Amino acid sequence: MRPTIGQYPATRFRRLRKSDALRRLSQENALSVNDLIWPIFVREGENISEPVSSMPGVSRLSVNLVVKAAEEAAELGIPAICIFPYTDPDKRTEDCAEAWNPDNIANRAIRAVKAAVPEMAIMTDVALDPYNANGHDGFVQDGIIVNDETVEALVKMTLAQADAGADIIGPSDMMDGRIGAMRLALEMSGHKDVAILSYAAKYASAFYGPFRDAVGAGSRLVGDKKTYQMNPANADEAMRLIERDLTEGADMVMVKPGLPYLDICRRAKDTFGAPTYAYQVSGEYAMIMAAAENGWIDGEKIMLESLMAFRRAGCDGVLTYFAPRVARILQDKA
Ligand code: PBG
Repeated sequence: MRPTIGQYPATRFRRLRKSDALRRLSQENALSVNDLIWPIFVREGENISEPVSSMPGVSRLSVNLVVKAAEEAAELGIPAICIFPYTDPDKRTEDCAEAWNPDNIANRAIRAVKAAVPEMAIMTDVALDPYNANGHDGFVQDGIIVNDETVEALVKMTLAQADAGADIIGPSDMMDGRIGAMRLALEMSGHKDVAILSYAAKYASAFYGPFRDAVGAGSRLVGDKKTYQMNPANADEAMRLIERDLTEGADMVMVKPGLPYLDICRRAKDTFGAPTYAYQVSGEYAMIMAAAENGWIDGEKIMLESLMAFRRAGCDGVLTYFAPRVARILQDKA
């Protein structure tokens, strides 16, 4: 019998899956070292690497070891690192003044990395939580997280980071109006080439738990972040936020967390076509590591599969704690 063209058996999708060669030839997306931003935690001291217990394989590093990590990242071809501070407890205050101190631990790390590895792009975190006595991203007045006063502080923080040599400012605070205020301040202070990667669609998520341990903000946090971070039930709002941030001068936008919000990544890329990033956050990392350490999953395969999912969803890059590990694997394959 003559097969009908246009349907089985003429159409067999398995033909292109039959060998590694054909699978590679018909592969739609690829993961490259160029897609990686490596978040690194910095703390005081010298030669200190202090493990974060809820994030196996991740440590808080003293500045000299952050420099070593940046050198390692550069050798692996990772284009960018993102620096997050663990601030000493006595420098966490209600007025958050340490946040815009030119010599705070994050700014010292930025300077040290820029001096040692000038080709490395350095991204920062702009939010008050690592410096705030109450663990919030904004100032708290009478139990309210106040917007406009916080934006003024975030601008000071941004300028201190840009002065230290940051290439990409990463506002993770979710206050309204911050991107426009930062962009204006950067333009007016001779930092017109500093990029802003806005945490545009950042959800009030329980997936940040291990990170809050890492920066020491979790145990301090009074209440929750639901008055500024997004409701996980919303998607249209994410598009409006991304549009707003791009209009206010963001060069790149982020969706956070990552894997549970891939629908938002895809919509963001399709709608705006802007450079779009996802943050595979601490809880996502911790879940994969915990299951792998128990022998329940193949950690390496799931790491690669999860990162490919971001590419498939339209992301140009991913912030991931797996960055050096995946870069090593990609290098060995090349
Ligand atoms: C703080 C900030 C958070 C993360 C990045 N910047 C935590 C939060 O908003 O509470 C989370 C990163 C992660 O979980 O890996 N503004």
